[in-house]
Amino acid sequence: MNQNTDFIPFARPSIGTEEEEAVIKVLRSGWLTTGVEAKNFETEFGAYIGSSNALAVNSATSGLHLALEAFGVGPGDKVITTPYTFTSTAEVIRYLGADPVFADIDPDNFNISSVEIEILLKKDPSIKGIIPVHIAGNPCNMEDLLRLREKYNVFIIEDAAHAFPVKYNGKLLGTIGDAGVFSFYATKTITTGEGGMIVTNNSKAAKRMSVMRLHGIDREIWDRYTSDKPSWQYSIVDAGYKYNMPDIAAAIGREQLKKASLFLKKRKNIAEFYFKNLVSMDFLKLPEQIENHGWHLFMARIIPEKLTVSRDKFIQEIINKGIGISVHFIPLHIMPYYKNKYGYNEQDYPQTLEVYNTVFSLPIYPNLTENQLKRIVSAIKEAGAKYRRIP
Ligand SMILES: Cc1ncc(COP(=O)(O)O)c(C=O)c1O
Repeated sequence: MNQNTDFIPFARPSIGTEEEEAVIKVLRSGWLTTGVEAKNFETEFGAYIGSSNALAVNSATSGLHLALEAFGVGPGDKVITTPYTFTSTAEVIRYLGADPVFADIDPDNFNISSVEIEILLKKDPSIKGIIPVHIAGNPCNMEDLLRLREKYNVFIIEDAAHAFPVKYNGKLLGTIGDAGVFSFYATKTITTGEGGMIVTNNSKAAKRMSVMRLHGIDREIWDRYTSDKPSWQYSIVDAGYKYNMPDIAAAIGREQLKKASLFLKKRKNIAEFYFKNLVSMDFLKLPEQIENHGWHLFMARIIPEKLTVSRDKFIQEIINKGIGISVHFIPLHIMPYYKNKYGYNEQDYPQTLEVYNTVFSLPIYPNLTENQLKRIVSAIKEAGAKYRRIP
């Protein structure tokens, strides 16, 4: 098999002629930066998700930063999050001179453990908030988190980068905490290339985020160019950031949003295919099979006692067969920056470490073909046959 031409990438966006035409329209309009497309994307996204404020930004990282700032995080503050996430979730806490406090995960679903969170909140009443991450699109226990929010008077900003559109108790994830932040990075469930969206029902926080999103200017981005008041008449009310989403990206996002339910259905079908075809492989531990899941990632684990090789060697065997496999995530507490800054030991978060050492992510995206899926399953089966420990 020719590995180069037949390689199955780990991720691939689903971009159709609708997105192409939408971008061309913007390119020909003479207006490339934030304008009517971004405004419409916000309105449509807010309506879809059921939130009164939706703010388009240039990444989820920017969105998380803005949200933390709007909920009053500043130097010396502490915010709880998970060590089992991408660095964005924790780095934004550092942007504001505050410190992340990690809570270990529940190994069954890889999400932050509410039991661990409560231990931390009890110990330190000065903690200001929690950023739960719905890993892979699997909802955190939001009922528990809302209870902790009330009991300890903390804010909750949902990192919903993996979780659009996922239902939880009749609402969509991202709308349950004080604010929610979505990512439209190229590999995510809908994409704008780079981009993100913040949703909140807190109007005061929304106003603050809107101002800080564009340099601390006290006027709406589009208002400066559409109202009768001259565009140069504005006030700078704070040292804000440059986090606005350009119309080229927003135009892609509007088309992707129309397809979100279809994409989710296709991801679900792929997950079902994996469950059906991998369940007999006793050297694997498959992810939780739940109905309301975004399936941004399909994260399986090896059972080390059943194999003669490490996770790295096992997945390399599959990669060598032309399959793009990835690992999510190298835990933050073992990353040099966080380790050196806070003096963590590997074993400080044992559940996170154990999951990390055994986990791997399979390709899952709408336009994977049945043929490709069969090849992925065969490659895993062959690697299992090669390295399975003989009892
Ligand atoms: C859990 C999580 N949060 C936040 C982000 C940041 O998203 P973005 O690339 O849009 O800034 C990512 C990116 O992959 C992520 O995985």
